[in-house]
Amino acid sequence: MHKPGKVSISNGVMMDRLGYGLYKVPADDAHGLCTLALEAGYRLLDTAAMYGNEEGVGRAVLDAVSAGYVERGDVFVTSKVWNENHGYRATREAFDESIRRLGLDYVDLYLIHWPCPAKDLYVESWRALEELYAGGRVRAIGVSNFQRHHLEKLLSQTEVVPAVNQIELHPFLQQQGLREFNAEHGILTQAWSPLGRGSLLTNTTITHIAAKHSRSPAQVILRWHMQIGVAAVVKASSRGRIEENLRIDDFTLDAVDMAAIEQLNSDTRVGSHPDLVN
Ligand SMILES: NC(=O)c1ccc[n+]([C@@H]2O[C@H](COP(=O)([O-])OP(=O)(O)OC[C@H]3O[C@@H](n4cnc5c(N)ncnc54)[C@H](OP(=O)(O)O)[C@@H]3O)[C@@H](O)[C@H]2O)c1
Repeated sequence: MHKPGKVSISNGVMMDRLGYGLYKVPADDAHGLCTLALEAGYRLLDTAAMYGNEEGVGRAVLDAVSAGYVERGDVFVTSKVWNENHGYRATREAFDESIRRLGLDYVDLYLIHWPCPAKDLYVESWRALEELYAGGRVRAIGVSNFQRHHLEKLLSQTEVVPAVNQIELHPFLQQQGLREFNAEHGILTQAWSPLGRGSLLTNTTITHIAAKHSRSPAQVILRWHMQIGVAAVVKASSRGRIEENLRIDDFTLDAVDMAAIEQLNSDTRVGSHPDLVN
């Protein structure tokens, strides 16, 4: 299977470049879809307290370990503290709740889901994440939806540099400046909604490139993410799509393809603007 490889994040922990995302996966479906994803070869599962499906995710990991086809150490589980739990104490408690729902001894990556600038408590939440990291309850800590000014404040007031910044990123929203800022600080950029939540799949530039390589539009877009050097988490709801999205390491987009996709940037979001979520 030609699946994307791993990347070393800033503290040396290895993380899969392409993971399976669980936003809007109903709680009752999470165990089954995570099991499909693990069977297909995914080793990174991206959930969050807000998704309401941590319990099924954790159970799928433990069942796969019991079945003997993965070890716990081979699976990278990400979760995130939700906006209503910002602040030092609330974040510590939210983590305890997440890990209880997951049923795991540790989480591989724990993120602040949104900066929530009107609350202005993300520095306090970060101090809670730093303690969790120092205590070994998480293997790495990071942020999500942080823009440059949120990161600048965090970096100037805290010790540990986030290992990851998970942001909306796809050909319609290429985030060049933020990607560069992340890279300058050793922060890995991880794309959410890498397919623009499906909106890119019928774009004619993408479909032409897909036809040229005899690949699907989703494979072309995910391949583009790998070639610009970011990680990504993608969601799909059927075995066929889950497998298809992972088969992206046996073809290469050429310079003409990459230039055509670069032209698609319109700074258009499918999600919310990080300064407006609180
Ligand atoms: N940190 C954050 O604030 C944040 C925000 C949003 C998302 N995320 C993370 O990012 C993950 C991915 O983002 P997303 O779910 O919003 O969007 P996405 O992965 O860009 O797109 C998912 C959509 O594309 C469809 N799809 C997937 N593979 C396909 C294929 N091969 N062919 C045709 N259609 C395909 C899916 O359909 P089906 O499901 O029907 O198969 C679904 O409608 C989330 O699950 C979550 O883990 C994080």
